[in-house]
Amino acid sequence: MTHRAKPMKGIVLAGGTGTRLHPLTLGVSKQLMPIYNKPMIYYPIATLVSSGIQEILLITTPQDASLFKTLLRDGSAWGIRFTYLTQSKPEGIAQALVLAEAFLDGAPAALILGDNLFHGKGLSDLLRQQTNPSGATIFGYAVNDPERYGVIAFDAQMNPVDLIEKPSNPPSTYAVPGIYFYNHEAPARAKAVTKSGRGEYEITEVNKSYLKDGALSVVLLDPGFTWLDTGTFAALSEASQFVEVLENRQGQLIGAPEWAAFQAGFIDADQLSALATPLMRSGYGQQLLKALNSYGAR
Ligand code: DAU
Repeated sequence: MTHRAKPMKGIVLAGGTGTRLHPLTLGVSKQLMPIYNKPMIYYPIATLVSSGIQEILLITTPQDASLFKTLLRDGSAWGIRFTYLTQSKPEGIAQALVLAEAFLDGAPAALILGDNLFHGKGLSDLLRQQTNPSGATIFGYAVNDPERYGVIAFDAQMNPVDLIEKPSNPPSTYAVPGIYFYNHEAPARAKAVTKSGRGEYEITEVNKSYLKDGALSVVLLDPGFTWLDTGTFAALSEASQFVEVLENRQGQLIGAPEWAAFQAGFIDADQLSALATPLMRSGYGQQLLKALNSYGAR
């Protein structure tokens, strides 16, 4: 009998200590830092929404939860639904899947890290194709510094054979970006993970459990896609410049949940215009309206 999947739900993990961004993050959560003209968390939310996901769980620290609620509320203005949970201690990314178990209620899950930014033509189509996985789907993206990430080891035919978290001798240049698609088994598999040497429940261990069972798909991302993580001063500033250049030079709109919600059909043109109106003074409202007008003109 085939398992009939419920619609995929999303999880944005936006907790952690942000120590690599101190003193910036001493008073404010990392995922509320600006990436050019939007709070960081807008970008992963827009990525999930552009994948067609409407139910999203936001996991934050207990002390920052109220700030996120002030910013994002219940999501209804964007035609989506936010649920909030807190992680009392940052004990690892895999813990997000355990915390999310009741929220998921047997649905498949897309987990995205609150500090990861994805962009590229055709990306939302690619992500949409992963929203009913028979096991798990992760991505591989070639980088200069794979030792900072989870890394994929391949055999001679480029089949994935192992995943290693922050290896000192990376077996390939393919890092695993912070977006993961799982079938309904993810919470159970995450519960079986034990703490690593660095004291965390590693998401790499969840992915390895699927790999061991022959249930892991690895999709290699074309270098034409952009994946940025924003965890250091330099990375934060580079991400801002990236968005600034594409938005100002080409008129693209990157990481805008309102626009993603419109494109996904979760809100209509009137609702998008109404969202843009109070945002005109910063220019963000104009960007939304411009995107809407050029959409109509196509
Ligand atoms: O960015 C992709 C990489 O993310 C993957 O390649 C690695 O396999 C994965 O382990 C992870 O590595 P990082 O070292 O970048 O993870 P970091 O500890 O920086 O956490 C990523 C985000 O998740 C960060 O914004 C804080 C948040 N977080 C992290 C942990 C461990 C939480 O909210 N709770 C946590 O317990």
